[in-house]
Amino acid sequence: WLIPAFVLLIGYLLGSIPFGLLLTRFTGAGDLRKIGSGNIGATNVLRTGRKGLAAATLLLDLAKGAAAVLIGAALVDGGGPMAGAMAFIGHCYPLWLRFAGGKGVATMMGVVTALYWPAGIVFAVVWLAALFGTKWSSVGGMSAAVSAPVSMWCFGRIDLVPVALALALIVLWRHRENIARLAKGMEPKVGASKKSAS
Ligand code: G3P
Repeated sequence: WLIPAFVLLIGYLLGSIPFGLLLTRFTGAGDLRKIGSGNIGATNVLRTGRKGLAAATLLLDLAKGAAAVLIGAALVDGGGPMAGAMAFIGHCYPLWLRFAGGKGVATMMGVVTALYWPAGIVFAVVWLAALFGTKWSSVGGMSAAVSAPVSMWCFGRIDLVPVALALALIVLWRHRENIARLAKGMEPKVGASKKSAS
């Protein structure tokens, strides 16, 4: 049992690295939790006006999810989904930030892509289509998250539907403030001013 427990721990620790917060802090871009939505993800990094940092946050948050899956799979037979789910939990609920982490979209994309890459392609396409179609980052992220259990099912990867479904439900839960803002017509579009998302 020691090795599976180690895999869970590694997954959680990897996922809990708050790249957005670290990158903005160490480059003097400000305290992300006091900007825009206060979220630690790439969308909120973009609200600092630093596009390169936002892209780096997106890639690193994605990479930690994918890395956890690959490490988990290498260490334990069938350990990929377990380690990936723990990385996702680590991102959303990091110990270091008193469990107040991100919304999980980029990390989920990394996990889904490493588990079964065709579902990762669908995830990316749905994300970009919904993002550019609506200009709401939250709608893009939530649509992509919901696509994952559906595409796993359609591709015949029934074994991966439960983990994809669980992650999608947590993504929706983490976006509950965005959903409330969308319902009130107050969700800022990507590229809107920094203050309007608070
Ligand atoms: O992935 C996060 C995104 O969907 C929403 O971010 O900062 O607009 O709440 P934000």
